[in-house]
Amino acid sequence: MMRKKGVPVLVGALLSLGVTVAHAGSLISPPGSFSKSTVIAGAKLFADHCSACHAVSNLRYNRLAIDLGMSKAEIKKDIMLPSGANYLNGMKPAMSQAEAKKWFGIPPPNLSHIVRAEGEPWVYTYLTSFYWDPTRPSGWNNRVFPEVAMPNVLASWGGIYTKSGKQLKAGSESPAAYHRQVAAIVAFLRYASDPSIFAREALGPYVLGALVLLSLVSYLLKKAYWKDIDDRRDAEGHINTSAMPKNKTKPDDT
Ligand code: HEC
Repeated sequence: MMRKKGVPVLVGALLSLGVTVAHAGSLISPPGSFSKSTVIAGAKLFADHCSACHAVSNLRYNRLAIDLGMSKAEIKKDIMLPSGANYLNGMKPAMSQAEAKKWFGIPPPNLSHIVRAEGEPWVYTYLTSFYWDPTRPSGWNNRVFPEVAMPNVLASWGGIYTKSGKQLKAGSESPAAYHRQVAAIVAFLRYASDPSIFAREALGPYVLGALVLLSLVSYLLKKAYWKDIDDRRDAEGHINTSAMPKNKTKPDDT
């Protein structure tokens, strides 16, 4: 995760391996279930708190309307917040990449595939693992992404903590509400990584229905074919071939 220039590649690889191993057991899965309403809530929260900096370029605003069943007016009011956003284009950040690079030293990445790349538990844990670190330029550090350039944009909801977990300031939300909201943002990013998920789920029952219908037709057909044969079985189940219809095309039958 760390992209530090000047660090030898091998050392970097070993370090990141160490970080991965050290935190592999401590990733937390987002609470709650994945549903369209969670994704809609997450999309609105994302627009409010994340799209100042991050693009989700593979999601066009009009696609959100189709996939999530939102109206164009709702999309325009709640999701298309950055000025210059176009309904037919991908979700854009409010801040220009050049401006962001000046502020954070690194442009905020496009989050289109973040859940596919890192998994939901990593993204959820990352968002809830910021801690106050006065030695950092932004004042923030992160337990699963050390020396991260992103500030803790959710601090006002979730509160401010030290690395050891001591609370410095309470958040405006209860811990349960805060975690539900972060989970909704992660649900939205999961959908962004796999935008056909709802269309596929809607198609599922029809595909199963078609298979059941096909099985039924095949069964009736099998029954019709075997009826002729079964009618000719004697008490022991042997088939009386002499009673079978003759094949008129064979020369020795004529
Ligand atoms: C003020 C700008 C800003 C805001 C707002 C912001 N981020 Fe970030 N984010 C960044 C920067 C800069 C990075 C790159 C950090 C680095 O590489 O050190 C980043 C990195 C990330 C990453 C890691 C990406 C990767 O490829 O490893 C995730 C995930 C992420 N942000 C999610 C979010 C979410 C979700 C929100 C909204 C709750 C959000 N960010 C709000 C600036 C921002």
